[in-house]
Amino acid sequence: MSCSTDRYGTEVLSGAEAESLNQPLRLPFSGKVIKNRFCKSALSENLARSDGQIDNAHLNKLLNVYDSWAQGGFGLIITGNVMVDRTMREMEFNVSVEDERDLGRLKVWAQTVQNHGGALFAQISHPGRQTHAHLTKEPVAPSAVPSPNFHRLMVFNYPRALTVPEIHQTIQRFITTSVVLHKAGFDGVQIHAAHGYLVSQFLNPRTNIRTDKYGGSIENRARFLCEIIQGIRQATPREFSIGVKLNSVDFGRRQSPKGQQQQWNQNTKDAALAAEIKDLDADDEQIERSLDDAVQVSLMLENLGVDFIEISGGSYESWVGGLLDRNEKRINIEQQKLSESTQKREAHFAVFADRISNKLKITKVILTGGFVSAKGMINALNSLSDEESIHSNGQPHIDMIGLGRPACHEPNLPNLIMAGSVTGAVRIPKMLGGFLDDVFVSTGNIHRIANQKEPVWNLSSILLSRNHIANVLLYSKMIWSGIKNSI
Ligand SMILES: Cc1cc2nc3c(=O)[nH]c(=O)nc-3n(C[C@H](O)[C@H](O)[C@H](O)COP(=O)(O)O)c2cc1C
Repeated sequence: MSCSTDRYGTEVLSGAEAESLNQPLRLPFSGKVIKNRFCKSALSENLARSDGQIDNAHLNKLLNVYDSWAQGGFGLIITGNVMVDRTMREMEFNVSVEDERDLGRLKVWAQTVQNHGGALFAQISHPGRQTHAHLTKEPVAPSAVPSPNFHRLMVFNYPRALTVPEIHQTIQRFITTSVVLHKAGFDGVQIHAAHGYLVSQFLNPRTNIRTDKYGGSIENRARFLCEIIQGIRQATPREFSIGVKLNSVDFGRRQSPKGQQQQWNQNTKDAALAAEIKDLDADDEQIERSLDDAVQVSLMLENLGVDFIEISGGSYESWVGGLLDRNEKRINIEQQKLSESTQKREAHFAVFADRISNKLKITKVILTGGFVSAKGMINALNSLSDEESIHSNGQPHIDMIGLGRPACHEPNLPNLIMAGSVTGAVRIPKMLGGFLDDVFVSTGNIHRIANQKEPVWNLSSILLSRNHIANVLLYSKMIWSGIKNSI
């Protein structure tokens, strides 16, 4: 199938290059060893029951998908959003873990990946304001700030601000979920602090306008995340690993209207939304401050013993080019003017990752978003051995390559790349401009693999399979809102 397929990249890897992608990576705090440098990034599978549980039928579907990623050569496999509160879900069919009711099945899930030498991390998550109106009547958030496009389109209900006791209860939920996952044999958890979900809403001054100890300075905005990590660390043994997924420009944007706590109501919300949308274009100083804050948070995470930070970007308001934000695009365009070598790097968030990785001494960095060619991956991965992971030479340093959409189209892409069989990921023919095709085909393929069918590489085949129509409609609604915002 691969020979006649249209693929990204022009060259296969040399033996030495393939070897460097096949190098094990020791996670510094837990001591866990990941067998190679390929990470399957979190992808919401939507394969649980509508109450977030996994019965045997749903487990079997999950196992089909995770078995194919584990057999396909991914060393680190991160689940899609696993919700810490089943009443607050990002998507209807997210797995939710808030107690031990699925413990036996979670154990089988972890074992399936580990049987192939992979490490399984659960991405633990809370949607905050980003939860669909039909799922959550009253979403909660750091502050009662609605999401510009999605609340306008009535996709999400208006959020209310969490009280301090509720913040503590939510932190406890992340801890409890982690304890259950540890008991089930998962290798670790990744806290989802990106893509505009609850933890990211705390970090972002546009969505967090609290005036108590959870809002204001970057130390205060990061407190929610740090307390989750401290709690998990205390409740689980050191060998249970903790990672974090971070966004690139969540940190330093202008304050939301008037920069102070306010409760939105029917009369103020239109003006507030207009101001928020205008806010989405940051100036240079704001971008700079955002990057500085991100570095500061990364150093806090290193101090707390976080094994890896996965760098990603974007949110519901900015779904372009793989969750790419307009300001992130701008940062990267400006960076591209600077150096020849940067131009060769295909990853969307490479500049941001460089900033962080050059400051970190211990914590590992995974870069996700935009990787499609084998050479692009090897160019980003500048480490040849674990011992060289101190960033003393000032070179950009990425420890692992994160793949999202390409992992759905071809679960064995790591093996194909390391065997020198392919130049890169398959190109999905464009019917809807590229990005939409990629997203629809990705979600469709997860479900095809779950049902023991081969992935397909074009949208028309996905559209013809009846169980994907609902997914397609849901994503169309979300993405259309993102497009409207970018025009
Ligand atoms: C269908 C789909 C589902 C996704 N679900 C999640 C998720 O549950 N959690 C998350 O952090 N990111 C999620 N993402 C984002 C990916 O992890 C990744 O950051 C993004 O797709 C960019 O990587 P790529 O260019 O390799 O696709 C999802 C992306 C897609 C396309």
